[in-house]
Amino acid sequence: MTTTPEASRTATRPQLSEDLRAATAVAHDRAERATFVDDLMSGRLDASGYRRMAAQLYFVYRALEEVGDDLADDPVAGPVVDERLRRVPRLSADLVALGLDPDAATPLPGVAAYVAAIEATRTDPARFVAHHYTRYLGDLSGGQVIRSRMKLHYGLTDEMLTFYVFDGIDKLKRYKDAYRATLDGLPLDDDQARAVIDEAVAAFEHNERLFAELAA
Ligand code: HEM
Repeated sequence: MTTTPEASRTATRPQLSEDLRAATAVAHDRAERATFVDDLMSGRLDASGYRRMAAQLYFVYRALEEVGDDLADDPVAGPVVDERLRRVPRLSADLVALGLDPDAATPLPGVAAYVAAIEATRTDPARFVAHHYTRYLGDLSGGQVIRSRMKLHYGLTDEMLTFYVFDGIDKLKRYKDAYRATLDGLPLDDDQARAVIDEAVAAFEHNERLFAELAA
């Protein structure tokens, strides 16, 4: 008879959402205080600052949503995948409204690495969850502040900022609470739970690198 070693047994992780928040808290502070983010949010840049960021995020979300589509029925990644979160059509329309051709941009080196990291999760659903959490929970949180500041400081219009609008989700806080409950209910073994945390920290680092490249 074979026995499952304790360490690899699959279980739900009632602490995962808290662990994720705790593990990324320092990186979150750093991201919020990154020069590019601080300048953008304080009105020290111009509309082209936001435009350059949005063009780069287009690569990130294309990867995220292509892999998400592939993993939609996966028992680990599937529960977080939600059509209401899909951003690519919105981001693409925003870029056009901002005067850009979505398909003409080139990824910055750090963004190419970020995209490669997301694509590598196609065979590692736990790590995909980390990338999903880092971007979408951010968009549902700080993203809402970004939207209002871009309107205030740079006169961007609703038509240019549909990326931050989530049709079908009326109460963002309630959605985020439910998302955290979903995270806590994912069937993960110990190694996968650790991988989610490690990859979320790495995902924040990718975002920090993006901001550093945008500031350069
Ligand atoms: C303009 C800069 C930012 C501001 C003002 C901001 C603001 C916030 C706020 C207020 C929350 C708490 C929301 C809540 O508890 O429901 C939050 C959560 C979060 N933010 Fe940010 N944020 C910023 C940048 C970022 C960046 C760059 C990322 C990563 C790409 C990010 C990812 C997250 C995530 C994943 C959460 C959820 C934390 C959790 O509850 O587990 N944020 N943000």
